Amino acid sequence: MYKVADCKIVDLPKIHNEAGNITVLQNGKDIPFEVKRIYYLYDIPMGSERGGHGHYELQQYIIAASGSFTFILDDGNNTKEVFLNDPSKALHILPGIWREIKNFSSGSICLVMASQIYSEKDYIRNYDDYLNYIK
Ligand code: TYD
Repeated sequence: MYKVADCKIVDLPKIHNEAGNITVLQNGKDIPFEVKRIYYLYDIPMGSERGGHGHYELQQYIIAASGSFTFILDDGNNTKEVFLNDPSKALHILPGIWREIKNFSSGSICLVMASQIYSEKDYIRNYDDYLNYIK
């Protein structure tokens, strides 16, 4: 089982010039799993809290493409708060970690690179079920 300490912030490649920045992620080069799905959270009302689930298999790179928000990671023994506000960094969430997301800034965009296509069967949505699973 992975622990919250295994979920690291990763520096992404950044191409910088006077006209701005580009960050590029290529399968097989810049990301430690094959990206099968990309999605993003946006138009998030102030005060919203999201997440509240774990995954059996899914790994993710989470990027604050715009604005900021906080991920709370939980492995059943320890929790860790990760504040994301830099599009050149990703939070790598490993399988089996419970997560909640809060403190979305106005206009924030949470970009997610995911290792699997969407499957509701991969979700653990009840915290007691999660605690049983990781035992
Ligand atoms: P969910 O992953 O629970 O959102 P969050 O963790 O951001 O709170 O997904 C919210 C809803 O969207 C849920 O009904 C499932 C659906 N959904 C898909 O259909 N496909 C997807 O790839 C994702 C991420 C969610």
